[in-house]
Amino acid sequence: MSDSSLQQRLDEVFSSFQGRAQELIPVLQAVQREFGYLSGETMLAIANFLRIPASRVFGVATFYAQFRFSAIGRKHIMACRGTACHVRGAPRIVDEIKNILKIEEGETTADGEYSLETVACIGCCGLAPCIMINGEVKAKLTPKKIAELFAKKE
Ligand code: FES
Repeated sequence: MSDSSLQQRLDEVFSSFQGRAQELIPVLQAVQREFGYLSGETMLAIANFLRIPASRVFGVATFYAQFRFSAIGRKHIMACRGTACHVRGAPRIVDEIKNILKIEEGETTADGEYSLETVACIGCCGLAPCIMINGEVKAKLTPKKIAELFAKKE
């Protein structure tokens, strides 16, 4: 994205705000809605717009789980860490995904294919342990099934 189109999109987002420091959270939310995530550049622009220190913008953004700092992959994995999944081995499932894709929670693979997020419960407790990939449930997983599912990444 060129600097000018980035600025243009930011200006558009900022145009519905007054530039007051109290607007920080709604501005962060609006910028994330527009770009899908918060980059260093967009957070600096927010600091400028609201005339507050960048450290405050970074501090608030990293405090809240709703904000993300990298683009979502074409295939977004939501791994369940709810109780039912946890007792049936979700931690091993998540570890295996991280291992194979070489990313941590909240990160995206370098090729932009996969991103990983863990969530409290995806509402399929009877199918535990499970994950969702772009909304599609993968049920009753084992580390072996995960290895097969992501085989092409190895
Ligand atoms: S705890 Fe995993 S789907 Fe509910």
